[in-house]
Amino acid sequence: MPGAIHAEGLVKTFGDVRALDGVDLDVPEGTVLGLLGPNGAGKTTTVRVLTTLLQPDSGRAVVAGIDVLKHPNEVRRSIGLSGQFAAVDEYLTGRENLHMVGRLYQMSGRAAKARADELLERFNLADAADRITKTYSGGMRRRLDLAAALVVSPPVMFMDEPTTGLDPRNRQALWEVIQELVAGGTTLLLTTQYLEEADNLAHEICVVDHGRVIARGTSDELKARTGGERVEVVVHAPEHIPTGREVLTVFGKGGDVTVEEHTRKLTVPVTGGAKLLAEVIRELDARGVEIDDIGLRRPTLDDVFISLTGHAAEAAAEDEESAGDDVRDSARRKEAVK
Ligand SMILES: Nc1ncnc2c1ncn2[C@@H]1O[C@H](COP(=O)(O)OP(=O)(O)O)[C@@H](O)[C@H]1O
Ligand SMILES: [Mg+2]
Repeated sequence: MPGAIHAEGLVKTFGDVRALDGVDLDVPEGTVLGLLGPNGAGKTTTVRVLTTLLQPDSGRAVVAGIDVLKHPNEVRRSIGLSGQFAAVDEYLTGRENLHMVGRLYQMSGRAAKARADELLERFNLADAADRITKTYSGGMRRRLDLAAALVVSPPVMFMDEPTTGLDPRNRQALWEVIQELVAGGTTLLLTTQYLEEADNLAHEICVVDHGRVIARGTSDELKARTGGERVEVVVHAPEHIPTGREVLTVFGKGGDVTVEEHTRKLTVPVTGGAKLLAEVIRELDARGVEIDDIGLRRPTLDDVFISLTGHAAEAAAEDEESAGDDVRDSARRKEAVK
């Protein structure tokens, strides 16, 4: 299995923090595993162990058919890691940086140039391609870093929260490049805090919390365990809440109706999609319940977490959609470190 990732019983402690508490993983060749979890769950630590950057206290791992602990150098030759190529050279232009990565990986000059051009275009860096990287904003560097990781397609790739901080357009661009790589046979382990991302890219998802895999399955399986879709209704006035609750109870598939009094929002897990939604609207109307808003929504990461652990993913990421706001971002990050 030249492209597969296999880990068994990975344990890693930092002082009294058990960052990994017995992690088992299996990623079949040519598939994408999404490692999903809140801040501090152990995602980065897992990636660092599997990419030979960190020794686990115990457990074993095989990547691309090679034992990670016994032959780290060989593993390194078979993998790509985004974030690793912070070896972006500040005094080279974006184009030169990507070109250099291609050449380091023995691509022909022409192929390296073509790949660099393609990636610059896709990550919306074409206009800045011939400026030295030192002048790039944080968001631009982040995209260049991702592009650098994607110049060549090694059999196994690791991407640690690749889209955190990317704006939606670049997030989409990255998803497309990732899908192409995987179609070409690359095995990918991707960490993310976004269920939506795992949903779009991953064949299988492992939910991690406190250094353990607490659930695994396809996105549909996880969502089904979380109660599938929900109908969410905002009733017009508090006096409509009791009748609204009765109606939703009838349409809900056994799950409890959740009521958020102050926002007059009622939520219930359902199956049946848009057709059911139309029926709910008709019934609410027939019973005289005025509604301000109604919709069908898929479970969020928080729903999955609440259902799996009984608590919210307390460190849920704020979505930094503004790649341009790098000064603010780095200020915020500095705040966070304090
Ligand atoms: N080098 C380190 N020294 C001390 N604690 C660490 C170190 N790396 C990670 N940790 C701790 O291990 C836990 C898991 O961290 P990490 O793997 O970075 O989580 P994630 O990537 O899911 O946010 C956290 O509690 C974190 O603070
Ligand atoms: Mg991390």
